[in-house]
Amino acid sequence: MSEYRDRDHIKSYVKRATRMSEHQRQSYERLYGAYCIERTSSPVDPASFFEHQQSPVVLEIGFGMGHATAEVAAATPRVNYLGVEVYKPGVGKLLSRIDDRGLDNVRIIHDDAILVLEQMIPDESLAGIHLFFPDPWPKKRHHKRRIVRPALTRLMARRLEPNGYLYMVTDWREYALAAMEVLDATEALRNRYDGFAPPQPWRPPTAFERKGLRADRPILELYYVRSG
Ligand SMILES: C[S@@+](CC[C@H](N)C(=O)[O-])C[C@H]1O[C@@H](n2cnc3c(N)ncnc32)[C@H](O)[C@@H]1O
Repeated sequence: MSEYRDRDHIKSYVKRATRMSEHQRQSYERLYGAYCIERTSSPVDPASFFEHQQSPVVLEIGFGMGHATAEVAAATPRVNYLGVEVYKPGVGKLLSRIDDRGLDNVRIIHDDAILVLEQMIPDESLAGIHLFFPDPWPKKRHHKRRIVRPALTRLMARRLEPNGYLYMVTDWREYALAAMEVLDATEALRNRYDGFAPPQPWRPPTAFERKGLRADRPILELYYVRSG
C-alpha cells in the first residue's frame, strides 16, 4: 500500500457538472479509441503508448481544455505527452485538437492522475511532469487536496528519470510558497533555479493564466529536477 493511501485517497478535484458541447461529445466518441489509454492497476511503460517509443515521455497532470498541451506537443514533436484529466469536456476538447493538428505525440488518460501515478507509471519512466495551474484549494481545511503535498512529490520524484523535471506554474502565491517548501523538502528533487523559476519561454499561456493576471495575481513558476 502506498504511503499517501493511508489518508484514504483524498481527491484533488470535485466532480464538476459535465456540460459538453456537441463538438466535444462527438470528438470524445469518435477519437477516444485512437488516443485514449485506460488506466491500469499495474505498471506499464508509458513509451509503449506512442508511435515513437524512443522519445521521452512527459506527463501532464490536469490539462484542462488542453490548450497548452496541444501547443507544446506541436512545437516539440520528438517528445511524447501523456495528458491526464478527469474533466470529460476537456478530454473531448484535447481530442479534437489532436485530430485537427494531426498530433501523433499526445495520448490521454481520462482518469485521476494520482491513481495513474501511483498504479500505472513505473519508476524512472518520465522525462518530466507538467502541472499548470493546479487547483489551489485556498481554504486551509482543503490544503490536503492539493496535488503538491509531501507524499505525492516523493511519488512524482520516484517516477521521474534521473535529471527529469517537475514544472509547476500557479497564480496562487500562497500555494506557490507552500509548494516550494514541500518541493525543497523532497529529498530526490533540487530546485533548478534560486527560488522561483523564470518563465519558460516554450510554455503558452492558458485561460487560467489570463484569469489570474486579470485578477492581478502574478504567475509563479517552480522548476525542480530529480537529483539522482
Ligand atoms: C485549474 S485547472 C487548470 C487546467 C489547465 N492546466 C490550465 O492551465 O488551463 C485544474 C485542472 O486539473 C484537473 N485535475 C485536478 N485534479 C486532478 C487529478 N487528480 N487528475 C486529473 N486531473 C485533475 C481539473 O479537472 C482541472 O481541469
